[in-house]
Amino acid sequence: MTVRVRDLEVSLGGRRVLAGVSLEVPAGSWTAVIGPNGAGKSTLLRAVLGLVASRGEISVAGEDSQRLKPRQRAHLVAYAAQSPNLPVGMTVFDYTLLGRSPYIPHLGRESARDRSITEEVLDRLDLTAFAARPLDHLSGGERQRVVLARALAQQTPVLLLDEPTSALDIGHQQQVMELVDRLRLSDELTVVTTIHDLTLAGQYADALVLISGGRVAAAGTPEEVLTGPTVEKHFDARVHVTTGPGGRPLLSLERP
Ligand SMILES: Nc1ncnc2c1ncn2[C@@H]1O[C@H](COP(=O)(O)OP(=O)(O)OP(=O)(O)O)[C@@H](O)[C@H]1O
Ligand SMILES: [Mg+2]
Repeated sequence: MTVRVRDLEVSLGGRRVLAGVSLEVPAGSWTAVIGPNGAGKSTLLRAVLGLVASRGEISVAGEDSQRLKPRQRAHLVAYAAQSPNLPVGMTVFDYTLLGRSPYIPHLGRESARDRSITEEVLDRLDLTAFAARPLDHLSGGERQRVVLARALAQQTPVLLLDEPTSALDIGHQQQVMELVDRLRLSDELTVVTTIHDLTLAGQYADALVLISGGRVAAAGTPEEVLTGPTVEKHFDARVHVTTGPGGRPLLSLERP
């Protein structure tokens, strides 16, 4: 299902945070939104979800996102926030099961299928051993995987992941990126992730959108966007870009 954003504008606290942002993520593709701290990446994802007021057009699967009822939207789009407030005392299993809420009838209970989907997602993210543990008794990376688990349990055609790997060790980064990629290929998921690790972004995404100062500063394939001059201009970083497997760019910091 295609996600389309046209001329998006968002103001927060009286300040314009996004202006003139347009992008299109075709069904079954993966777009990584990159950009410096404060550029507006999380705000863009939140706007697609209707969590912040915005102007412009946002459509998911041809439907105007702003007009969707929360339950309708929850059948289409799942979201893993960058730093969510997690309910204290709730177990990993129960939190992940919340991803099934859009399928549970009002005042009803979860089905055996909802529980088995939850168990399967926990298993795929190495979280089975934590299922009965309260969320506040987890490490940062474990907690981040649980937030992703909840989004995956929702089984939507569109996944919006805000910095899904920022707290993960390299093995779990690979596990999460590969899992998302496999789901994308097997179920034609449309994936939008923000991500600070530019090499990782370039390895997995079909397209990169660089947001800088609330505007789209560059968009295209990883090779087109991840050039030394572009990274220097927008991140104020000096990097060395080489070509890795599959022609994807590899970035390393340049030491003086
Ligand atoms: N509620 C708010 N009121 C005013 N300004 C806000 C509010 N929320 C965010 N901002 C500002 O909006 C800008 C964009 O924030 P956003 O969280 O989208 O950045 P980001 O690109 O996701 O950054 P990061 O890489 O640090 O996650 C920032 O300058 C931030 O300070
Ligand atoms: Mg952010």
